[in-house]
Amino acid sequence: MDYFKALTLLLENASAPYSGFQVASMVVTQDGTLFKGVNVESVAYPTTMCAERNAIFTAIAQGMKTGEIVEVHILARNAEKNVVAAFPCGSCRQVIAEQSLNKATVYIYHSKEKVTIHTIEELLPNAFFSLD
Ligand code: THU
Repeated sequence: MDYFKALTLLLENASAPYSGFQVASMVVTQDGTLFKGVNVESVAYPTTMCAERNAIFTAIAQGMKTGEIVEVHILARNAEKNVVAAFPCGSCRQVIAEQSLNKATVYIYHSKEKVTIHTIEELLPNAFFSLD
């Protein structure tokens, strides 16, 4: 699977009229199912939703169960249309940690040639999991 190519196509669906910063994310589950998300901005700025959470929430809406996420892939392009590395924001890290039961591997594309691979535990140490 050429994730860079698929994410580049998906970037066209991002709705980022205010920042010009486009983000595409693909979530892969244990059985190899793929779910897609893009960032969607709102003129009421805080209403904006990130690509990663859109991908994960779509997966859940389509029946994915907690713990089934194994990979999260992220590609971003700035307002000048240059590919730039985008690490997930704090809110997305929390959701990735919870929905993968702290097991996800996060692939961040810096360019066509360079991807860095991170565990969610590395990106969000000591994640909050329980109200008990
Ligand atoms: N954004 C994402 O979609 N994911 C990230 O990991 C970082 C930020 C979006 C939110 C907003 O639409 C734009 O990027 C600029 O912050």
